[in-house]
Amino acid sequence: MIPYKHEPFTDFTLEENKKAFQEGLKTVEAYLGKDYPLIVGGERIMTDDKLVSFNPADKEEIIGSVSKASKDIAEKAMKIADETFDTWRKTEPAMRADILFKAAAIVRRRKMEFSALLTKEAGKPWNEADADTAEAIDFLEYYGRQMLRLKDGMPVESRPGEFNRFDYIPLGVGVVISPWNFAFAIMAGTTVAALVTGNTVLLKPASTTPVVAYKFMEVLEEAGMPAGVVNYVPGSGSEIGDYLVDHPRTRFVSFTGSREVGTRIFERASKVNEGQIWLKRVIAEMGGKDTIVVDNEADLELAAQSIVKSAFGFSGQKCSACSRAIIHEDVYDTVVARVEELTKELTYGDPTDQSNFAGPVIDKAAYDKIMSYVEIGKEEGRLVAGGEGDSSKGFFVAPTVFADVAPEARIMKEEVFGPFVALAKAKNFTEAIEMANDTDYGLTGAVITTNREHIEQARQDFHCGNLYFNRGCTGAIVGYQPFGGFNMSGTDSKAGGPDYLQLHMQGKTTSEML
Ligand code: NAD
Ligand code: ALA
Repeated sequence: MIPYKHEPFTDFTLEENKKAFQEGLKTVEAYLGKDYPLIVGGERIMTDDKLVSFNPADKEEIIGSVSKASKDIAEKAMKIADETFDTWRKTEPAMRADILFKAAAIVRRRKMEFSALLTKEAGKPWNEADADTAEAIDFLEYYGRQMLRLKDGMPVESRPGEFNRFDYIPLGVGVVISPWNFAFAIMAGTTVAALVTGNTVLLKPASTTPVVAYKFMEVLEEAGMPAGVVNYVPGSGSEIGDYLVDHPRTRFVSFTGSREVGTRIFERASKVNEGQIWLKRVIAEMGGKDTIVVDNEADLELAAQSIVKSAFGFSGQKCSACSRAIIHEDVYDTVVARVEELTKELTYGDPTDQSNFAGPVIDKAAYDKIMSYVEIGKEEGRLVAGGEGDSSKGFFVAPTVFADVAPEARIMKEEVFGPFVALAKAKNFTEAIEMANDTDYGLTGAVITTNREHIEQARQDFHCGNLYFNRGCTGAIVGYQPFGGFNMSGTDSKAGGPDYLQLHMQGKTTSEML
């Protein structure tokens, strides 16, 4: 087995790669506007009630219309997933891993098409779309290998005359609910983690990005996944989400999304409903209020570059995005001035145009929310860059910076989830770390410093799941920087980490007298 290595990012300065991406766009353009069915037990089911997925950079362009699951269809899917579990749970883990490896090979062959689809459906600039596709491949390659490591369980001791084993067995039917911001990577990663461990899945992708999920279903089928193992049931979160979460046959829920929905799922899943014979497990990855701390002993150019890249990459729509920077007072003015300069240089617009650094935000609700925070920001800080929006064709918001923000301001506490960053001043390094921790969340953070003692201080005291030194706070790589946060950022799980698959299994001890 070739050791795991992450999928390299595409160099779009090379002419051949530019051409390949443009070919990918042509492939996607040829299937825009199609109707897509649900997939339940391998059967394609068309419904009249559709989710319409459109291009956030151009509201007129329909990516596809996807059949919505009703409660009846969700019930049918649950029944099939439950029945399929009886056979799927007994399959060889190595065979399940092979399906992931084959799927990775198929996605790699169609890499530019998938990235181009993300550009159209999620508004991702080329490099961000490419990173999303690469991360999906990484999850397939990494979880396949992790399953091979776990397939024989863990060693335990045996006394003379007995033979003890400790094996991992799957849980049952999992409901996978995914977000739109890593519409491919997170959707695929959470789905295959569940299936490679021997569970069956009801996949409910985000309502704004269901087409990429449908295309991934086709990949899994081509890779040899039997019917009924993953069932594709898109629908509105509020309509079928609660139904699937509450269902007594749901054994676990793997959710990635907002704190509001995550806490709702956590609460509902804790209730034992009639006919239910287990306590449901919930894996929840939620929001963040991620911070870059800049020390007075630091490379200030690196600090400004890290803030701008982490705040505005994919228009700040990453759970890992830098949404506040806390800067030592000695270097505050210098860093703020450079952040302003760099931000004003950024171009944004149609993401199919490679020259744009950023594209649109995902939809009208996101646009309205971000613009309302711009108004709040004007009350709470000094507008240094951006602040404008245009939703006439697509949903565009200028990269926006507010400086001189007080620690208790709303824009220092609440997740905005857009191209929006708040800058605040700290008297010293210890105060900066205290301010960074003053949030309900704990997902990512970064410290820019050349002071070794401060690195060690932050390692102990900066309470977040992914802490980076002398770099930005986005861009975790599967298998290299396991990803997931503390406190209200989730259930402390680490996607792409060595203990992630175990969350989808339970340990079974057998002891045989010899
Ligand atoms: P969201 O919570 O609005 O939606 C996530 C998913 O939940 C979607 O599929 C949605 O349809 C579904 N949903 C909505 N209501 C539901 C209900 N009542 N029951 C069941 N499902 C329901 O989040 P989003 O806007 O898609 O994603 C952005 C959020 O996700 C941000 O807060 C971001 O920080 C977070 N996020 C976290 C991580 C992480 O790893 N921690 C990664 C990506 C995104
Ligand atoms: N893996 C993504 C990042 O770290 C969420 O930005």
